[in-house]
Amino acid sequence: MHQGRTTLSKFLIQQLKGAPEQSDLAALLVDIAAAVKAISAMTAKGELGGVLGSLDSTNVQGETQKKLDVMADRAFINTFSMGGLVAGLASEENDDPIEIDPQDGSGRFLAVFDPLDGSSNIDVNVSVGSIFSVLRAPEGRAPVMADYLRPGSHQLAAGYAIYGPSTMFVLTVGKGTHGFTLDREVGNFILTHPHMQIPEDTSEFAINASNERFWEPPVQRYVLECKNGRTDVRERDFNMRWIASMVADIHRILMRGGVFMYPRDTKDPSKAGRLRLMYEANPMSYVVEQAGGIGSTGRVRILDIEPEQIHQRVPVIIGSRNEVERLERYHRDYDSGVDEKYSSPLFQERSLFAS
Ligand code: AHG
Ligand code: MN
Ligand code: MN
Repeated sequence: MHQGRTTLSKFLIQQLKGAPEQSDLAALLVDIAAAVKAISAMTAKGELGGVLGSLDSTNVQGETQKKLDVMADRAFINTFSMGGLVAGLASEENDDPIEIDPQDGSGRFLAVFDPLDGSSNIDVNVSVGSIFSVLRAPEGRAPVMADYLRPGSHQLAAGYAIYGPSTMFVLTVGKGTHGFTLDREVGNFILTHPHMQIPEDTSEFAINASNERFWEPPVQRYVLECKNGRTDVRERDFNMRWIASMVADIHRILMRGGVFMYPRDTKDPSKAGRLRLMYEANPMSYVVEQAGGIGSTGRVRILDIEPEQIHQRVPVIIGSRNEVERLERYHRDYDSGVDEKYSSPLFQERSLFAS
């Protein structure tokens, strides 16, 4: 039984052979998988482990921290501190990046992560996840903020864990996107989903529709057309899903296609979107692009954005190629005024003056 199984370590040795940086990266990914196993065990205990509920604290984003947010954050920080491979780290739960004592090794990497994604689902026993992104650390000096603020195209590796009915670890090092399932009895991640590919077309979309009145017209147009289904331009019916864990929604899209949107909205004008560039949008875009999909803000490729802040937020439109391209076209139509019904008010004002 189980003959010829490819473990995570065996897979990484095969994918990352060559320069010493490559084998260090393999070792780091095995460390991250170890933290994921610990978090998987915590989440699985639920009420019995005393891990549910909130703390009195808030994070830098003003969000109340759940116990598991902080426990998962600690699991990652401990792993990175002991591993000797990371020079610094930044996470959703910490205001500023944390430097790892160089005495523990000359870490080649920076780790940026969302320790627990989908926190609102913890207490109701719905899938949650963790997201990570690996960047190169500077050589011969301690990392500074500018070392973290690299575009997503500079990521050396990225991925996520999903704590669902099974725990999976999905990653890319720029050679496709590959999924591993945790064999709990043995404690190993086994390659179960090599070369994941997102179907180009889809009839499924994911968006928090309660925000509809705050969306921009191109997103309103897209969703309305999907809802109208076969009675409108799409000529087929669509289905909608919203788990409220980005990891779980994007995992579904990797498995069977779809488009995930947390677009720009006017709910809070000080925020460009809900999701964070460095530890949500960038790593998930890398994983999705490596599986044949697209990650976009609707106007630009997410991986090309020059970050300005570690906790900065961006609009996110991610998933099946043809649907994301359609949404980008709707944004262009809106911005340029090509589509009269959905053109930007700015453009309408200009053309009013012109006539
Ligand atoms: P986090 O739990 O790390 O703060 O992230 C939650 C994010 C994302 O996972 C999810 O897609 C989205 O917030 C859900 O937002 P709504 O509650 O507005 O639906
Ligand atoms: Mn998150
Ligand atoms: Mn989180």
